[in-house]
Amino acid sequence: MSRWLRRIGYGLAGVVSLLVLAVAVLYAITSSDLRRRYRLPGVPVPAATDSSSLARGKHLVEVIGKCQECHGEDYGGKVMVDAPMFGRLAGRNLTRGRGGIGDYNDEDWERAIRHGVAKDGRPLIFMPSEAYTVMGDAELAAVVGYLRARPPVDRETPAPRVGPIARALYLGGNFPLLPVKVIDHDATRRPPVPGVSVEYGKYLATLGGCRSCHGSDLAGTGDPAAPDLTRSRLAAWTEADFFRSLRQGQRPDGSVVDPEKMPWLRSGRMTDDEIRAVWLYIRSLPGRRTT
Ligand code: HEC
Ligand code: HEC
Repeated sequence: MSRWLRRIGYGLAGVVSLLVLAVAVLYAITSSDLRRRYRLPGVPVPAATDSSSLARGKHLVEVIGKCQECHGEDYGGKVMVDAPMFGRLAGRNLTRGRGGIGDYNDEDWERAIRHGVAKDGRPLIFMPSEAYTVMGDAELAAVVGYLRARPPVDRETPAPRVGPIARALYLGGNFPLLPVKVIDHDATRRPPVPGVSVEYGKYLATLGGCRSCHGSDLAGTGDPAAPDLTRSRLAAWTEADFFRSLRQGQRPDGSVVDPEKMPWLRSGRMTDDEIRAVWLYIRSLPGRRTT
């Protein structure tokens, strides 16, 4: 009997040492990415101060970029997840208060928002700069101007910690841990003129994170949590259906779009023209190829 038990013991020791080895390899590979420092020039885009730009900045921040989802309603930062195996992700305090980024100049803001890099060159973790990297200078100036004018909040947010599960997902390509790595830092920006056009719809769908969650061609990512929005799945949808899904969170069959998963409470505050432009863009897409 005890011989058998001992065998189980050896077997378990083998499994445990394999696991330890796998975790060690996981940490070795991902830690070099996390420890890397980026020296990007940073473009000084002077923050806007005029009232019409600040109003535009408020809309871009609250409705298009949805910064409050991760940085808190008061922009004072918030912990999004803190679990031992997954890790800890916290949107930083963006105000001038204690724990905030009051010392950030125009270049530092540009580098953080469009490139996913902190003032000290650290890659920002889970900050969706892969979406914001297309932001034009006028929009960036409006966003930073609006955020700089927010009242200071004293709140220290904890430093991020990336646990084994987040590391494994990142290596598997399923988790946008380090947007800095997927951004073309030398790209020239040609933000389209606002209007009801496919080009402007694409721009809004990029900035608004639709493409980050629903896949770059909006045809889903294969994960049921990110549904295909194109005609390959929503062929029967009309523009009115699209409006209702964003404004009331309701699908044509009467079912509810979960506001915890799909941020329609914010995206639904896009203007009529903005929603029309996004719809035009969605309808211009080929959808999932059926072979
Ligand atoms: C999906 C969540 C998410 C959204 C949406 C988001 N952020 Fe972030 N952001 C983060 C996280 C998480 C960090 C901290 C990353 C870190 O410390 O590594 C961060 C960091 C930043 C930083 C850098 C702070 C520092 O420590 O250097 C700035 C600036 C910033 N965000 C601005 C914005 C703006 C502006 C918007 C909206 C246009 C926005 N963020 C939307 C998650 C988000
Ligand atoms: C944070 C990820 C995320 C972002 C950003 C996001 N979506 Fe979604 N969206 C989802 C998820 C998840 C669902 C499915 C919700 C559910 O299961 O009820 C969904 C559902 C939808 C639906 C309903 C479709 C259906 O058949 O269920 C529409 C329409 C939609 N999104 C459009 C958009 C548009 C347009 C944008 C950009 C302005 C956007 N989404 C941004 C995650 C996201």
